[in-house]
Amino acid sequence: MESKGKIQDRAEGLEALLQARRSVRAFEAAEVPREHLVRVLQAGTEAPSAGNVQPWRFVVVRRATARRLLAQAAWDQEFVAQAPAVITVCADLARSGQAYGQRGRELYCLQDGAAAALSMLLMAEALGLGACWVGAFDESQVRAALQLDEQVRPLALLPVGWPAERPARPPRHPVEAVTAWLD
Ligand SMILES: Cc1cc2nc3c(=O)[nH]c(=O)nc-3n(C[C@H](O)[C@H](O)[C@H](O)COP(=O)(O)O)c2cc1C
Repeated sequence: MESKGKIQDRAEGLEALLQARRSVRAFEAAEVPREHLVRVLQAGTEAPSAGNVQPWRFVVVRRATARRLLAQAAWDQEFVAQAPAVITVCADLARSGQAYGQRGRELYCLQDGAAAALSMLLMAEALGLGACWVGAFDESQVRAALQLDEQVRPLALLPVGWPAERPARPPRHPVEAVTAWLD
């Protein structure tokens, strides 16, 4: 059995990671080694998913011309093109649909993809990388840029790179304000 001290250390380490993670929107020009990106992707695949279907699909975009297309698709959010890599998190609607029908297509695969995206953001932070969840984009433009199959829905763009800024922590609603307890 793990000691109480070890558990306490682990919880505090996770709290520190969660609090340190920020949306980073400015990056150094330096490349991110492929091994780092693989580690980030690996973290995504550790996420929970409904029925363990794992409907997430990732497209790692390092080619400058494709990053430019993604930035345009994201209503000209320029930092998307400036990041050395953009991980596009997608959901395979057909896989979730096969398993769970409409609820799979409309809910589970989005939740599964979101869980994977957050896991990746946290691993990026743990590796000293900066990243941002970009959800404002024209889906059809992203589909065209990445030649996605019809049943693959892009959920999030995650520009990743070495951070060139240290954003302040945006305020959070206190737990009491967003929680109801039914004791
Ligand atoms: C679903 C979703 C969509 C988002 N879309 C964008 C976006 O398009 N552009 C952007 O700059 N940030 C985007 N963000 C990042 C949020 O602005 C950011 O998480 C929030 O302001 C809190 O800041 P923090 O991530 O540093 O804690 C998005 C975040 C989420 C979860």
